[in-house]
Amino acid sequence: MNSLLKEICAMLKEENTDASLGIKTEIEKFILVQKTIDFEESPNSALKEEIVSLIEKSDHNLAEVLILAQKKLKWRKTTIPATLISDEISNLFYVCPIMGVDTVIPSKKFRLGFLFQKPNSYYPLHSHSAAETYFIIAGELDWSDGNKTRKLVAGDKINHSSLLPHSFETKSAGFLGLWHWSGDISAENYKILE
Ligand SMILES: [Fe+2]
Repeated sequence: MNSLLKEICAMLKEENTDASLGIKTEIEKFILVQKTIDFEESPNSALKEEIVSLIEKSDHNLAEVLILAQKKLKWRKTTIPATLISDEISNLFYVCPIMGVDTVIPSKKFRLGFLFQKPNSYYPLHSHSAAETYFIIAGELDWSDGNKTRKLVAGDKINHSSLLPHSFETKSAGFLGLWHWSGDISAENYKILE
């Protein structure tokens, strides 16, 4: 797991924002204190196979270390409260939280984790209080703010401010991204907008 976290730190260093450098510092402190990291294994092997076969097709720097760490990554349904998101939408994607409240690396200031969205699916326009960055690790998607649409592929990155509406539409591959939240990281103001 440490190689995975070190590769994530390299990406955060390259992003070079107050938020990304703050997250990098918290991860590095955690590595120093913790030495080894023991993620609980995910029980959902079919889901993991789907995610691994997507990662295997990617030449992103993080892909190789992710394959090595895959047995330790725990995929789950979103941490957004069920009162704010329907099952129909939350079943389209799975997350693997790494930093935040009640996760592997505890933080009250930041959240960071992986998100996998299934092939041929549409995660409708939604917004939240946190500022957000996504690094695309594998697959591709059409990212939209409701007006402009951008195609994102492995190696691309998108950053947006608080409360900006955004949607994700996948094609036959689905996508895997590493995301982080900063600022107001509570899920209270999370809203599906359509
Ligand atoms: Fe978001």
